[in-house]
Amino acid sequence: MNFSVLRFDSIESTNTEALKQARHGANEGLCVIARRQTAGRGRQGRTWISPPDAGLYLSIVLRPRIDPKRLPLLTLAAAIAVYDTLTTLGVKPDIKWPNDVLVNDRKISGILTETAETEQGLAIIVGIGINLSVESGPPELSASATSIESELGRSVPLSEIEQSLLEQFDKWYGTICESGPWNIIVEWTARSSYAHGKRIRAATSNATITGVTDGLEPDGALRILSTDGGLSVVHAGDIERLRTDEQFD
Ligand code: BTN
Repeated sequence: MNFSVLRFDSIESTNTEALKQARHGANEGLCVIARRQTAGRGRQGRTWISPPDAGLYLSIVLRPRIDPKRLPLLTLAAAIAVYDTLTTLGVKPDIKWPNDVLVNDRKISGILTETAETEQGLAIIVGIGINLSVESGPPELSASATSIESELGRSVPLSEIEQSLLEQFDKWYGTICESGPWNIIVEWTARSSYAHGKRIRAATSNATITGVTDGLEPDGALRILSTDGGLSVVHAGDIERLRTDEQFD
């Protein structure tokens, strides 16, 4: 993919800007990167706190020619790219379905994928936030969040993280476009302690399911063997690991 980069010192949200650029006809590979976001957005309407130079705030415009059923795989590919970027730097991450990247249960990166109908067809925006430092964020964040600086005890230039992430994303995006879903599913599974045998609670828009994870469907949905013995397939929602002392409902 040919990347071109639009840089901002400060912007509301790189995803919002990328959506706007896509609606104005931006080509696949346009990346919007900002040093700071004033209204960074997370999943489920949450805020992504984005102080200046405290993280990588990046959104990529994609125009994939793949079966729409497979679009969730793009988010999994982005999580793999983040995982491999962090691993290269010496951090030991984990992936929580669908796309939170954690270190020791603390979040270091999040991904927000959005779509826009444009005159050129469907555009997908993959927005990625990676924490470089959490000290400049609010104190309540440090309980649930971590950063590259906290994990490594040293800083890393944002340009280095950006370059590695784009290289990794290009590789895994190519894998989705050129081969079937299984490569991404297999690679995601290999990097996630949540893929199999994890006791979790999943909150979807209409139910709460408690059970044990049982791998991914070809479209990236999470299979859960629920406590009543049935199999649930979750396409969207938040999952939470059950502590060892926590009983199933
Ligand atoms: C989440 O974990 O809830 C997703 C967080 C996604 C944050 C990134 S930062 C760059 C891009 N721009 C945004 O407004 N959000 C994403």
